[in-house]
Amino acid sequence: METWDAIRSRRDVRQFSERPIADAHLERVLDAGRRAPSAGNLQPWDFVVVRDRDQLQALAGVWQGAGHVAGAQAVIALVSSVPGDEMQRSILAFDLGQATMVMALAAADLGIASAHSAVEDQAKAQGVLAFPDGKFLAFMLSVGYPAGRPLAVIDRPDRRPYADVVHQGRW
Ligand SMILES: Cc1cc2nc3c(=O)[nH]c(=O)nc-3n(C[C@H](O)[C@H](O)[C@H](O)COP(=O)(O)O)c2cc1C
Repeated sequence: METWDAIRSRRDVRQFSERPIADAHLERVLDAGRRAPSAGNLQPWDFVVVRDRDQLQALAGVWQGAGHVAGAQAVIALVSSVPGDEMQRSILAFDLGQATMVMALAAADLGIASAHSAVEDQAKAQGVLAFPDGKFLAFMLSVGYPAGRPLAVIDRPDRRPYADVVHQGRW
């Protein structure tokens, strides 16, 4: 897929088919995340890939909006060190957002859909993923082929109009 088509095709898909993702394709998605830029090139992330159905179902319970994880072919769990202050917290959010987005686009490029999930229950997340103390599960990205219509370019996205968002020169 062309980059511009991948950008326009990506959407959050929350129902996945049973078609497995090839290992090489999942590795490409993860490698895309690894290549993401970060403040000071600190790369403040570890990616825990979960494909086991029992683990996926358990992770679906870490947040009320995590239900899609249960039926995903895999979830990429973005684990970070707990930030020390507000500045670190906001930079971390930016870095993780970039890593997440580049993985979502690398997936879309392969026709693989994704969905974000926030995380609330850190104790449950640590129980499933066994990350060390001092780390936390920041976000999850479900991946899989869509159960319904495949990814395709969205001509009219559910977004604010271009002219409302883009300001030329001054506000
Ligand atoms: C930081 C962030 C957190 C999100 N958390 C969740 C979530 O917990 N559960 C969920 O189903 N979707 C979550 N989403 C997905 C958004 O709801 C989705 O991107 C938005 O509704 C636009 O949908 P679209 O990209 O398919 O057009 C999250 C997105 C972002 C960027």
